[in-house]
Amino acid sequence: MYIIGNWKMAGDSAFAARHIACTASLIRQLRMPSSIEIVHCPPFLWLQQSLALAQASPLAIGAQDCSLDESGAHTGDISATMLAGLGCNYVIIGHSERRIGHRESHTLVAGKLRAAIAAGLSPILCLGETKAQREDGDYQAVIMGQLDSALAAIQWEQSKAELLIGYEPVWAIGSGETPSEAEITEVTALIHARLADYPSIHASLLYGGSVNAANAAAILNMPYIGGLLVGGASLDLQEWTDILKAAKSQSLS
Ligand code: PGA
Repeated sequence: MYIIGNWKMAGDSAFAARHIACTASLIRQLRMPSSIEIVHCPPFLWLQQSLALAQASPLAIGAQDCSLDESGAHTGDISATMLAGLGCNYVIIGHSERRIGHRESHTLVAGKLRAAIAAGLSPILCLGETKAQREDGDYQAVIMGQLDSALAAIQWEQSKAELLIGYEPVWAIGSGETPSEAEITEVTALIHARLADYPSIHASLLYGGSVNAANAAAILNMPYIGGLLVGGASLDLQEWTDILKAAKSQSLS
């Protein structure tokens, strides 16, 4: 099971230091089972100090994006190789805030996925439909289009990468509105079925979008769900603690 915090563009250096240290001691205090991989994805600027503070802990650190290129004339970009060299294990790819806010195309997302895997990172590939796409009824095609274009970019038989796929409906992100169990299961079942066409992929399915302490246990209990991608609630120590407790109870049940 994976519990992943996506900080987005939040926090300063002091917050990052405090939050990483608190999470590391929480993992000890709560005796979190090693079957639960806990990951924080702070902004690029705080990755190095976060990695140093998490070094003696099972807490893993990931980035929120990477370049599709390995090096060279790409002002402002950070490569997957640089992230792996720093000690990151994970990278979020294709978050809707990048697909929409930075106009990231399927081709660009696929290139980033390829770069992440080539660098030895475990990618957290995000998929999800907007409210309008759901209301128009074409959300399944949208999500499968995002998935298929990414999966087609990798020679999975030659890869040992662990692929994390986050279903994050855009309308559920930061809105306090979570889909029903039937809505989540309809989409995760589709993704699960498509993954059967790729027997060499080692994949886990996560849900993200307004996850909090009150709904974490119920979501973790849904079929196909192997973890949570948590935005706002990953920054609130009380919420985060309760989400970790819910994950522990779920893993022991
Ligand atoms: P949220 O964000 O939990 O604040 O809705 C989730 C995400 O965007 O990954």
